[in-house]
Amino acid sequence: MTQDELKQAVAKAAFAYIEPRLEKDTVLGIGTGSTANLFIDCLAPVSGRISATVASSESSADRLRSHGIPVYDLNTVDQVDFYIDGADESNHALQLIKGGGAALTREKIVTAVAGEFICIADESKLVHTLGDFPLPVEVIPMARSHVARELVKLGGSPVYREGVVTDNGNVILDVFNFPIPQPLATEAAINGITGVVTNGLFALKPADVLLLGTADGVKTLFAQ
Ligand code: 5RP
Repeated sequence: MTQDELKQAVAKAAFAYIEPRLEKDTVLGIGTGSTANLFIDCLAPVSGRISATVASSESSADRLRSHGIPVYDLNTVDQVDFYIDGADESNHALQLIKGGGAALTREKIVTAVAGEFICIADESKLVHTLGDFPLPVEVIPMARSHVARELVKLGGSPVYREGVVTDNGNVILDVFNFPIPQPLATEAAINGITGVVTNGLFALKPADVLLLGTADGVKTLFAQ
């Protein structure tokens, strides 16, 4: 199966996972990226049963609205029951690297509110140690050089993602050559640098379940 077919399979599996639990007042949190887009498209045929969503990016919000699915500001809902989103990497504790699509801050905010975070990914994303994928860090523009110097002190090689401005008006540094054997400590250390909005490690609040697309079918993984 191709990577796209695996992504399609996990999008369908995520829909099957939440569909029996959809209530009238369920609020769905919707992530960002190609896998999340496929999940959004799975919602289209049942759009009338989706009373509320919150989205982690303007692009996902636009896609939801294009299917006639209502999108709300996070501040106007009382709860987010499920958050469904992809990842750039996951380890076996379901700690993630996210932010390849530059939506990491809003993704982390919706994750913080969500009752259950369902991560959907193809098997290429599952790794032993996080860090082959360069770690995205969202930074206030005037702090870019300062934050880059601090990231070098932590052992990484930050690269400015040229031409990208986040939905929050900030910039992204991608940290290369940065294996992350202790994600909890690294997430906290980077977030402690002045000028960092947040970083793409989801370790303090990892996924609750990972639906992983493999050649043998979709596997349901819980944190080990
Ligand atoms: C966007 C993200 C995405 O979830 C991540 O980049 C995975 O994307 P895709 O589903 O396209 O492989 O974190 O900021």
